[in-house]
Amino acid sequence: MSRANKVVLAYSGGVDTSVCIPYLKIEWGVKEVITLAADLGQGEELGPIQAKALKCGAVESLVEDATEEFVTDYAFPAIKANALYENRYPLSTALARPLITKLLVRAAEKYGADAVAHGCTGKGNDQVRFDLGITAQNPEIKILAPAREWGMSREEAISYGEKYGIEAPVKKSSPFSIDRNLLGRSIEAGPLEDPMTEPPEEIYALTKSILDAPNEPQYVDISFEKGTPVAVDGEGLSPVALITKMNEIAGNHGVGRIDMIENRVVGIKSREIYEVPGLLVLIKAHQDLESLTLTGDVTHYKRGHIDEMYSRLIYEGLWFNPLKNALDAFINETQERVTGTIRVKFLKGNATIVGRKSPYSLYSEDLSTYGVDDKFDHKAAEGFIYVWGLSTRVWAEKTRS
Ligand code: ARG
Repeated sequence: MSRANKVVLAYSGGVDTSVCIPYLKIEWGVKEVITLAADLGQGEELGPIQAKALKCGAVESLVEDATEEFVTDYAFPAIKANALYENRYPLSTALARPLITKLLVRAAEKYGADAVAHGCTGKGNDQVRFDLGITAQNPEIKILAPAREWGMSREEAISYGEKYGIEAPVKKSSPFSIDRNLLGRSIEAGPLEDPMTEPPEEIYALTKSILDAPNEPQYVDISFEKGTPVAVDGEGLSPVALITKMNEIAGNHGVGRIDMIENRVVGIKSREIYEVPGLLVLIKAHQDLESLTLTGDVTHYKRGHIDEMYSRLIYEGLWFNPLKNALDAFINETQERVTGTIRVKFLKGNATIVGRKSPYSLYSEDLSTYGVDDKFDHKAAEGFIYVWGLSTRVWAEKTRS
């Protein structure tokens, strides 16, 4: 029985998503497969991918340039939220998924498709993000995930494809599984599956080895307006140009590599390598500017509750969830005065913040100085500490043996 009539398939041009085309038609009785490839700044020509989809049997092959939207509506809000999953991963892959689902659902509605499809397996996070993103935007649409059901190994998928004219990859395919977009790269699998094995230098493409990084420091000023990065060294840049520039600078100094064990949504621990030079530096700079411009209580509450929850929601596929919108509202309220400039010193794998200024700075030299201009009332501290510590004092008195 046919699973669907007309399907919009998220398409990358790789073996798995290519094999999905004949598979959907032959095994699952789908009449028409429309593919959709999204340009998210992965630096790859999408023309050949478009042609490949048609060759594999797609009736139509769509390519959408969504790089600008990706930065403005996905990366920049994540920077305002200092979004780091498990305190380390800036969600470069995860942020792309809700945008891709948006394009898929829009195309399905436009072309009258009754289903959308993706090539994710059943073990990863991306299937969760795709399925939930699609459902949240159109709960009626069917979701087909052939690779979750077909049970083929990679070799079997390649020979299945060959039967239907899909060429096997020409060069011996890399043992690594790589996802890339303007924000960075994620690298998994192959020898990296042993968590004790050091990543080989060849897996990196956006960051230099520290050994090859310049010996001279480079100072870079990053300016923010209401929590959004807008200029580098005083030069106003478009969102895409700004990320591109920060990737170049940080990558050149060997900044932005992450090697971590992470907890996937489906309960598996996995070893992940990321290269996220620009994004990581921007989050660090943004945090520093918040420290200068937000009160202590807002900073603590935002860091400990809002930012942490936000990064989990993104990781766990809940971008289109009402809680996410509510957190955005909180975050935007806090960003009104997060405007100013952060100075970063790049040197040999380090991006160190060495200066910051803001018209809304809450830093007061009168209060913090240890010099003669000190305006802080030292005597007031004694009474404060008495009251502040009263419960501790009572407890100590009662429990002293
Ligand atoms: N572990 C990362 C994440 O969940 C990277 C996933 C990479 N995805 C891929 N299909 N290769 O966001």
